[in-house]
Parts: sequence; structure tokens; C-alpha cells
Amino acid sequence: MTIKTIGVVGAGQMGSGIAQISATSNFHVIMSDISEALVERGISRISTSLDRMVQKDKITPSQKKDAMARIEGTVDMGTMRGADFIIEAATENEGLKLGIFGELDGICRKGIILSSNTSSVSITKIASATTRPGKVIGMHFMNPVPAMKLVEIIKGLATSDETFRTTKALAEKLGKTYVEANDFPGFISNRILIPMINEAIYALYEGVGDPDAIDTVMKLGMNHPMGPLALADLIGLDTVLAILEVLQEGLGDPKYRPCPLLKKYVDAGYLGRKTGRGFFAYE
Ligand code: CAA
Repeated sequence: MTIKTIGVVGAGQMGSGIAQISATSNFHVIMSDISEALVERGISRISTSLDRMVQKDKITPSQKKDAMARIEGTVDMGTMRGADFIIEAATENEGLKLGIFGELDGICRKGIILSSNTSSVSITKIASATTRPGKVIGMHFMNPVPAMKLVEIIKGLATSDETFRTTKALAEKLGKTYVEANDFPGFISNRILIPMINEAIYALYEGVGDPDAIDTVMKLGMNHPMGPLALADLIGLDTVLAILEVLQEGLGDPKYRPCPLLKKYVDAGYLGRKTGRGFFAYE
């Protein structure tokens, strides 16, 4: 079946980024969230990001206008019935995702693939919440979605080869390079990235260096584009903590123990850029 309309569940930083690249790749997009305010925020984030691309002459103002016109925002999950492929990008919480997939399974047409942008939850488990485990797959984009080339594609235990083929073809149509990862906690990306970020937070917690020193070492000493603490703020400290908890529980090794300072920041509501404060302060 030809994919014309992509349903994106979640209008946050990942969902809106996925909706944006889908629209600029000529797909129609249905983007849902739980409130009008969240949908509007997602649409306005897309508009700002496209403005930036216009300023850099990457797209024309009329291409921006056409892309925006291809995006339909909604708070009604039932609208997803019109989608030919689903990418779920809700908050990183297993119970929430299982609920969403159960609901999508009832709404979406039988042949439709339900993919998740989860950064750590087991695809096999998400698939078990549906009656179509062969059509459930992980499609893990990186933040900021329009700027990052990679998509990690994760097959669950029951994911069919046809589902995998369709998903990798779609990733390529969205202008991304895909890598196949097996369904283990954190897949490849977060198995490696998140322990590094946690270690940077421990270095701060133990007074090895202040946030600027830690990030400068990794930027200038290791040529990382951003330091690990600024990257944690970009990802969201609640998401970093949720992924560490999945690694710790799923792999059972104490090396994944979340730093107490990270827990304290999350408890305080210092979630990074999205709340204006994390390891650094934002306007
Ligand atoms: N929308 C559109 N384009 C964007 C953008 C956005 N939101 N953000 C950045 N870009 C583009 C810029 O237009 C620019 O493109 P050109 O080079 O073609 O002009 C390019 O990205 C670089 O941006 P800037 O020059 O503004 O800034 P920068 O050079 O400091 O790069 C960055 C910004 C791309 C975010 C870079 O710092 C970076 O790569 N950081 C690391 C990001 C990273 O590691 N992401 C993965 C996080 S882990 C994850 O997402 C998975 C998970 O499960 C937790």
C-alpha cells in the first residue's frame, strides 16, 4: 500500500520534528496530542523551525507554506483512522505507550504499521498491547529531528520482514539514514549515550568539575558538538532518567544507577530546555 498520510501521535519536540520532516517530504500529516494547547505549540515549533530553514535558503517561503498546509493538528485520536502509517512519539513512559498502542490498534485500519519513536521501551512489549505484533516496529529519531541524519529501526520479536522493509523505505523517503538495532534496553544509541550523560552528571555531583568545565572538556577535547550536560538539557532530564531506569531494570547492572542529582533535578521540575532550567538556564 502506498503511504500518503503519516499519523504522528504526540506534538512535543520529537513529534513535531517528525511531523515537520514528513510534511517537507511531501506526506500529509495528522499530528495529535491530548490538548489543543499542546497541538498549537507543536505547530508553532514547526513554523519556527521552517522559518529558520527559509532564512538559510534551504527551502522557499512557498515550500514552507505548502508544508504547513499538509499538517492537520487534532486532539481526536479517532482521526488516526485516516493515516497510512503511524509514528508514535508520546512521553517516554511504558504504561502510557502500551495504552496508546492498544487504542491505535482499535482505531487504525488492519494493514497499517504502528511504529514507536520510543528511546528505550521494548518494542516486543509495545507490540503485545496490539492484535498486530507483526506490524509493530521501533522508529527511533534523534533530536533535533530536522537536523539529525539517523533513524534507528528496531524489530520486535514478532515484527515481520515486510514491516521492516516498508519502514526502512519510509525512513529513506524522510531523508534519513537507518541503522537496524535489536530489541534490547536502550537499543544501540541510548545504551551508549545515556550512561555517558549519567557519568557526566556524577562528575558534577562529586565535584570533579562544574557544568561548563565538564561540557567544555567533551566539546573541545573530544569534538562532541555539544557537551553531555547541555545535551541532557536538550533531551529532557525526565527522559534521561526514564531511559536510565529502563537500562537499570532491563539489564540489571548497577552501572546504570541514575545519579541522585539527576533524580533531584527531575523532582524539582528542572527538566532542561523545555522548562527553562536544567544543568544550565535558558531564556
Ligand atoms: N530545525 C531545523 N534545522 C535545525 C534545527 C531545527 N530545530 N536545529 C539545528 N538545525 C540545523 C541548522 O539549520 C544547521 O544546518 P546547516 O549546518 O545546514 O546550516 C545545523 O542543524 C546546525 O545547527 P546550528 O548551526 O544552528 O547549531 P550547531 O552547529 O550548534 O548544531 C545541533 C546544533 C545540530 C543541535 C548540534 O549541536 C548537535 O548535533 N548536537 C548533538 C545533538 C545530539 O546528540 N542529538 C541526539 C540526542 S539523543 C536523542 O535524540 C535520542 C534519545 O532517545 C535521547
